[in-house]
Amino acid sequence: MRNPPEEFSEEEKRGLYRAIYERRDVRSQFRPDAIPPAVVARLLSAAHHAASVGFMQPWDFIIIENLALRQKVKALFERENDRAAANYDGERELLYRSLKLEAILESPLNLCVTCDRTRGGQHVLGRNTVVETDLFSACLAVQNLWLAARSEGIGVGWVSIVDQAELAQLLGLPGHVYPLAYLCIGYASEFLSAPELELKGWQSRVPLLTLVHRDHWGAAILDRELAAAILAVEEAAAPLEFNSACGRTEEEIEKPNRGGLPPH
Ligand SMILES: Cc1cc2nc3c(=O)[nH]c(=O)nc-3n(C[C@H](O)[C@H](O)[C@H](O)COP(=O)(O)O)c2cc1C
Repeated sequence: MRNPPEEFSEEEKRGLYRAIYERRDVRSQFRPDAIPPAVVARLLSAAHHAASVGFMQPWDFIIIENLALRQKVKALFERENDRAAANYDGERELLYRSLKLEAILESPLNLCVTCDRTRGGQHVLGRNTVVETDLFSACLAVQNLWLAARSEGIGVGWVSIVDQAELAQLLGLPGHVYPLAYLCIGYASEFLSAPELELKGWQSRVPLLTLVHRDHWGAAILDRELAAAILAVEEAAAPLEFNSACGRTEEEIEKPNRGGLPPH
C-alpha cells in the first residue's frame, strides 16, 4: 500500500512542530501516575519505526520495574555526578550541584534503549564505512519516542551520567549490546518553556543563523531571504530564547507572535 504524497494539513503540521518545539528533557516535573499499557505501546512503536541503517533496527527496550535495580542505577548516577561536579569550581560548581539531572526513582517508568552492535550480521547495508551508524539509528529511536511522548503529555528525561559498562552489567546486557539511553518517563505536570539548563543560566541556545554555512565551514550564507526566514522562524519558535540570545531583555521585546509556531 502506498501513502499519498500530499503535504500534511496545517493542523497536522502544527501538531508535529508543536511536539518538536515543546519537547523537553524532563527531570523535575514528573507525576506519579502510571502510564497505561496502550500508551507505553504507542511510545515503543514510535521508537521502533525510526530510520535505521540498512533497516538494522538495532534497538531493544528494557523496562526497569525492580525498585532495587533502580536504586542501583541511581547510585551509579550519584557517583558519576559527583565526579562531573569536580570539573567545575566556585559558582559554576554550585550551580552544577543545584541542577537536577535525573528522576530515576520519581518517574513511573524507567526504560533503557539498547543498541545491538551485531544485529543484521557482519555486513549491514550502509554500515560498511561508518560503523557508528547503528548508534545513530538507536538515537533516532529515542527521539521518536521523545516526540511521541510529548504529544501524549508525557515527559522523558535522558540520564547519561552513569558508567555505561556498569549499567550494562546491572541490566545483564551481553557484551555486544550497548546501553544507549537510560530514560525516565512519566506524565509531566509541566513542560518548561525552554530547556531547564537555559532557564537556570547554565547554557543558552546558539542562534541558528550562526550555525548555517555556505559551501565551506565558516562561510556565511548569502541568501538574504533564507537568512531572514531563519531569523523569523526561530523567533516565532521560541521568542524568549531567541531574544535573550540576541542580547535583548524581555521588556525590550514586542511579542506579537509569542508562543506561536513558525510561520508557514
Ligand atoms: C545524549 C543525551 C544525554 C543527556 N543526558 C542527560 C543527563 O544525564 N541528565 C540530564 O539532566 N539531561 C540530560 N540530557 C538532556 C539535555 O540536558 C537536554 O536535552 C538539553 O539541556 C536541552 O533541553 P531540552 O531537551 O529540554 O530541549 C541529555 C540529552 C541527550 C541528547
